[in-house]
Amino acid sequence: MTGIAVVEGDGIGHEVVPVAREILAAVRPDLEFFEVEVGYGRWERTGSACDEETIADLKSADAILFGAVTTPPDPGYRSALLQIRRALDLYANVRPIRGEGVDIIIVRENTEGLYSGIEWTEPDRACTVRVVSRRGSERIARCACSLAAARRHLTIGNKANVLKSDSLFVDICRREAARAGVPCTTRFIDALSLDILMHPARYDVIVTTNIFGDILSDTAAYLVGGLGMLPSGNIGERHALFEPVHGSAPDIAGQGIANPIAAIRSAAMLLTHTGDPESAAVIEEAIDRVLNAGIRTRDLGGNAGTREFGAAVLREVLRGK
Ligand code: NAI
Ligand code: MG
Repeated sequence: MTGIAVVEGDGIGHEVVPVAREILAAVRPDLEFFEVEVGYGRWERTGSACDEETIADLKSADAILFGAVTTPPDPGYRSALLQIRRALDLYANVRPIRGEGVDIIIVRENTEGLYSGIEWTEPDRACTVRVVSRRGSERIARCACSLAAARRHLTIGNKANVLKSDSLFVDICRREAARAGVPCTTRFIDALSLDILMHPARYDVIVTTNIFGDILSDTAAYLVGGLGMLPSGNIGERHALFEPVHGSAPDIAGQGIANPIAAIRSAAMLLTHTGDPESAAVIEEAIDRVLNAGIRTRDLGGNAGTREFGAAVLREVLRGK
């Protein structure tokens, strides 16, 4: 029995995750789902966004399907997602970007860099420490190289011309690529952000540090129709969590108009990760058929609601099975 923890989170997480879960259950009736509450809504209600018990529940799952959580500006609030990524040691954030003429995987280091959580505020300045460790870089480089070995090549996104921490990162990635026999090039992250939009076919697997990968993947979403399209995996040695790249979208939450594709594709990634790429392909193909039939949510220029779009994918999934 495979146990899937389901975390809706906040905002449109409550709308897109149930759609993805229903499709997942349709392709794999053997999966067992259990809900875990995490996020700002829970914090408002109970004073805690995520606690030790939550972490233990998430650890007990074979995989986690996650929506999105709201991070309020409140200085006393600890980001639930950062807490989970750290507690479960989900060091690799894998973000595939596929569309017409685009087939890129961004592999983002997910536990350190500028998001290492080492920061403080003084009267006249505030400091955030950017930590790039040998161990952290080696394991993300290996993850990226193993993906690139089955594809074409690796690009190392960096700012080593300015940041010493990135010189270490580049050296380690280069060495791992040579060891894996993967052709690799380096690109400065600012130039790369433009080039990925102008010449997406130049890119295959891109490995980079935490915040650069965060920004680069939102930028690259432009190539395939926006944030509503992109799934991601947060993967560690023992645990894995799959979630849309987008956030809780408070500007459209509660209206039933969010695009559920990113969440549905995250469910498909979850299946591939748990050893069932065939069912994942059934889901991916169903999404393509629905889009080809001209059914779209508003962000893609259509007028289908979240549920309506999900129902169309579900129909295609059942036909494709
Ligand atoms: P966001 O991704 O929530 O929204 C950015 C823009 O994209 C908004 O205009 C939104 O309406 C649109 N959008 C996003 N997903 C969409 C979808 N599925 N369908 C249609 N339109 C969609 O990012 P934003 O506004 O910067 O952050 C909102 C909240 O989400 C914040 O509290 C932030 O901290 C949190 N967040 C959480 C993430 C996570 O849980 N992994 C990731 C990013 C942000
Ligand atoms: Mg982001």
